[in-house]
Amino acid sequence: MTAALRLAGCVFAEEEARMLIAEAATADELDRMVRQRAGGLPLEQVLGWAQFCGLRIAVDPAVFVPRRRTELLAREAARLAAQVSQHAPLVVVDLCCGTGALGAAVAAGVRRTLDLHAADIDPAAVECTRRNLAPLGGQVYQGDLYSALPEALRGKINVLIANVPYVPTDDLALLPAEARDHEPRVALDGGSDGLEVMRAVAGQAPRWLAVGGHLLVEASERQLPAAMQVIVDSGLLPRVVLDDEMDAAVIVATRAEVTEVTEQAGNRADDPFGGRQPTSHERMTGLPWDASYRNGPAPWDIGRPQPVVVRLAAEGAFVGPVLDAGCGTGENALHIAALGVPVLGFDVAETALSAAREKAAERGIAAEFVAADAFALDGLGRTFATVLDCGLFHTFRGDERARYVAALTSVTERDATLHLLCFSDEGPDTGPHPVSRRELEAAFGPGTGWAVAAIEPDRVETRFQPSGAPAWLAMIKRI
Ligand SMILES: C[S@@+](CC[C@H](N)C(=O)[O-])C[C@H]1O[C@@H](n2cnc3c(N)ncnc32)[C@H](O)[C@@H]1O
Repeated sequence: MTAALRLAGCVFAEEEARMLIAEAATADELDRMVRQRAGGLPLEQVLGWAQFCGLRIAVDPAVFVPRRRTELLAREAARLAAQVSQHAPLVVVDLCCGTGALGAAVAAGVRRTLDLHAADIDPAAVECTRRNLAPLGGQVYQGDLYSALPEALRGKINVLIANVPYVPTDDLALLPAEARDHEPRVALDGGSDGLEVMRAVAGQAPRWLAVGGHLLVEASERQLPAAMQVIVDSGLLPRVVLDDEMDAAVIVATRAEVTEVTEQAGNRADDPFGGRQPTSHERMTGLPWDASYRNGPAPWDIGRPQPVVVRLAAEGAFVGPVLDAGCGTGENALHIAALGVPVLGFDVAETALSAAREKAAERGIAAEFVAADAFALDGLGRTFATVLDCGLFHTFRGDERARYVAALTSVTERDATLHLLCFSDEGPDTGPHPVSRRELEAAFGPGTGWAVAAIEPDRVETRFQPSGAPAWLAMIKRI
C-alpha cells in the first residue's frame, strides 16, 4: 500500500498509509481509499476529515481542504475574539467558510458563548459547514459574500474571518493537481491579481464590523503589499501577523474606535491627537498614529535600522546634530547615535517614543526622543546639520508636504542635508504610499529653500516585505 501511495507521488506515504488503515472499517473500504488517494484525491477528502487547530473537521468531497498555515488566522481570530468584553455579545462571522474550520476553531479557542455565523457561495461547502458547526449552534447560509448574511448582523460583527480565494487566475494552472482537480475553482480563484474577492470583502467590511471589530484575511507573502493597500483603501487599519515556519501571513484590519476623525480635533485632555490637526493618513485610517504601535510592532517597524540608513551612516552621511523626523521606535536614530553623533528623534506617537527611550536606556545610547508635530518644529528651539526622514514624507498629501518642508526649513541652516527614504512608484510590489520622482522634485523645488541633489532608486524594508519595497533615496540640500 505504501509503495502504491509513494508511486502516486504521496510524499508522506507511510504516515498516510497508517491514517488510511486506522480510518477504514473494512478491507474493501481500505482498498477503495487507497485507490482514491493514489488517483490524486486530497488525503483529507479520502479520510473525510482534516486536523485543524487540534480539531477534527469533517471534509466532504469537492470542498476546500483547510490548510495548516491557516491555523495562524484562526489563532489570531480567537485571540481577538477573547478580548471582547464578557458582558457583551460576541459575534463571529466566517465568510467563504469552506468546511467551516475557522469558525469552529475560533469557537473552540474562546471558551465562551458566541454568536457564530458562516456563509459560502458553494452548496457543498455550506452542507459540510452545517455538520461542523451544528454542535456549536452556528448558523450557516448560502450566498455571495455579505448578501448571504442576515441584515441584523450589520455593524455588529466583532471578528470577521474571510479566508477568501486569493490565487491569481493565471496561476491556477500552477497549483498542485490535488487542488486544481478536486477543490472547487470558486474556492481558489481570486481574479486577475488574486485580490478581487478580498477587495469586495474589505470594501464592505466597515459597514458590517462593530466599532473596534476586526477583519482577518490571509494572503501570500508576494501579495502582501498590494493586499495591505486593499485594506488601507477600505478605510480599515491594517496590521500584519507573520509565521515564517508555517509560511503564513495574515492581515488584521480593524475598524477604528475613532469613527469620525474631523479636520479639527479638539483640545480636550482625552483628545487622541493632543490638540493638533490629524494628518491625512490619520483621517484615512480613522486612527491616530499612536494606535499603530499599541498592538505589537507596526508594519514598518523591522526592529533594526533600515539597511539604507546603516549604509549612509557607514559613509559618514550623518553629520551632527541629526534630526530623525518621524523616528518611530528609534532604531535608525539609535544606530546613528551609537556612532557618537548627537541625534534628536521626534514623533507624534507617544507609545513609539517610550519604546525608543527604553531601548536607548537599555543599550546605554545617548539619543533624545521628543514628542513633536512635523508641521511645527520651531518649538524644538535648535537647528540641525542633517535630517533623516525614513518613511514620514510619503505619509503626507497635498499641502501637508509644503507645510512639512517649511517646518524643516525652520530647523536647518544653509548647507544642511536631508536624507529622505520613501516608497517609490516604480517597479512591482510598490509600498502603500508610493511617491513619484516628480512629486519629490516639486516638494523641494525652487522657492522652498531646498534643492534636490540626487534621487536614486533603493529599497525600504517592512515587516511584511523582508526583501524590501521599491523606494527613492533622495539627498536634498538646504540652500
Ligand atoms: C512609516 S513610520 C516610520 C517610522 C521610522 N522612521 C522607521 O523607519 O521605522 C512614520 C512615522 O511618522 C510618524 N508621524 C506621522 N505623522 C507625523 C507628524 N505629523 N509629526 C511627527 N511624526 C509623525 C508616525 O507616528 C510614524 O512613527
